[in-house]
Amino acid sequence: MLHFTEVLTLLDNNRYCSGETLAQRFNVTRATIHNCIVKIESLGISVERVRGLGYRLMQPVDLLNQAEIQSKLSSPVANKLADIRCLQEIDSTNLYAAELALPQAGEFSLVLAEMQTAGKGRRGRQWVSPYAANVYLSIVWPLQKPLHEAGMLSPMLAISMLTALEELGVCGLSLKWPNDIYCHHKKMAGLLIECSGEISGGCKMVIGMGVNVFMSQFENVNIDQQWTDIFSHTQDWQHSRNHVAAMLINNAVVALTQFENNTFDDLVGSWSQWDIMKDKPVELHSAQSIQTGIARGIDKDGCLLLETSCGLEKISAGDVSLRASA
Ligand code: BTN
Repeated sequence: MLHFTEVLTLLDNNRYCSGETLAQRFNVTRATIHNCIVKIESLGISVERVRGLGYRLMQPVDLLNQAEIQSKLSSPVANKLADIRCLQEIDSTNLYAAELALPQAGEFSLVLAEMQTAGKGRRGRQWVSPYAANVYLSIVWPLQKPLHEAGMLSPMLAISMLTALEELGVCGLSLKWPNDIYCHHKKMAGLLIECSGEISGGCKMVIGMGVNVFMSQFENVNIDQQWTDIFSHTQDWQHSRNHVAAMLINNAVVALTQFENNTFDDLVGSWSQWDIMKDKPVELHSAQSIQTGIARGIDKDGCLLLETSCGLEKISAGDVSLRASA
């Protein structure tokens, strides 16, 4: 059966492609082509239809391409890649990744998707994931260390994501503990780390990364905080989403390897360079309470240092969210 992506990859924003040509090319009826176009439009991609000429994309569409992603991985990272899946529609790449086989120590697997129907954010939130607009990827990593040492992974990986975005030319970036990436005070990217297996080691980590790339074309998305995307903050954006994904993967795998080898340099100092909340009055929201204090950066284990009336408290990430005091 014809999949709509086969039609989509033939459509262009510079020229029209007739329904008849497409039908002949795939040896299907015009009605089948029409149904594919309807499906494409339902994903938020605008298609112009002109009688006698055919179909034309209103804007170019930047699709994921597994070969391109792999070609952009650095050799040391590519050598550790056990499995890669580039999917179309999926509930959540993290959910899919959790079902994959555990790679051998030092190797990793990857899941990417064009779209998530139930993308997961931190604290049970939804991660809005429209088709071909952003990067949604999950890395499966076999953790060799006890779980209690993994607290620092969250800020470490957030730094790796921020560095990737900076290398892509995004300016005005900052971090909010434990692992949000902001650009000019609006959220651009997030990280969801999930774990299953043995607490003492041998745990399967699923590291989900979401980066808004072309989100600004969707005017009416329902997100409960201020957000932004890469496209709005880079002049003459020339990169593909494949390039963004490869940069994120390269940097994350380097950080994960450094974590395993205890060679990540100066977590506290690196975090402090980007810390949007440093020395600011903050509120720490959990399901049970709201705690106030002054944010004093993080410690070497990735805990937030919160100065309260009772002294300096160490807060581990868990199910909390940090906000600037009103
Ligand atoms: C957050 O900031 O709340 C975390 C967002 C994490 C979103 C990514 S998108 C890819 C992966 N799959 C998911 O369902 N969530 C993560």
